[in-house]
Amino acid sequence: MSATPDRPVAPTGLNHVVINVRDLNETHRFWTEKLGFTQVGEFQLVHRGGPARRMQFYSGDHDGKLTHHDIAFMEVPGLPAPNPDGTLVSAIGHIALALPNREAWLKQLAFLQASGVAFERRVEHGMTHSLYIRDPNGYTVELLYELPREVWEGNIQAALNHYVALPTEGEAALADNHENVPVFAPVQ
Ligand SMILES: [Fe+2]
Repeated sequence: MSATPDRPVAPTGLNHVVINVRDLNETHRFWTEKLGFTQVGEFQLVHRGGPARRMQFYSGDHDGKLTHHDIAFMEVPGLPAPNPDGTLVSAIGHIALALPNREAWLKQLAFLQASGVAFERRVEHGMTHSLYIRDPNGYTVELLYELPREVWEGNIQAALNHYVALPTEGEAALADNHENVPVFAPVQ
C-alpha cells in the first residue's frame, strides 16, 4: 500500500453533467433533433423519499461509438421558465459542446441557422471559435471547435482574454476566419 498522498489527484477533465429541466420531452427533441445527441438510457430516480424524477441519458459521437452519458436531464416540473427575452437565471452559466473539427462546426452552424435556431452570440476566443444558443429551458449551449494547442498553450490567460464578437445573422453568421488566428506566446 502506497503512502497517503499529500495533494489531490487531478481528474482528466469533465465526464458528464446532469441538469434539471422543466419538460423532458421538449428537452429531448432539442438535444436530439437540433444538437445531434443520441439517447442511451432512462431512469426513475427516487432520492431519499422524494418524488420520482424522470431522467434521460445522452451521448455524443465518440469516434463512431456511444458512451454511457455525456449529459443527462432530470425533469423537475416546477422550474422557472425562461424570461420573455430567452434569458434564464440559473446556477449553470453554459454547457459547452465540442465539435470534432472546424468543418463539422461550420456544417452544424448552417444546420442550426436553417432550422431556425437563433444565434445569441458568436465569438472568436483565443482557444476556441464558439457559437452560443439556448435550449428550450433557457440554458445557454456553446458549440465550439478547438484551435490547435500550439495557438493557446503558451499563454492560456491571454487566450482566455481574447474576445472578438461576430455577426449572428445572415451569411455573415456562417463566416469563420481561421487564417492568421493570434498565437499567444509565453510571458517572458
Ligand atoms: Fe465556454
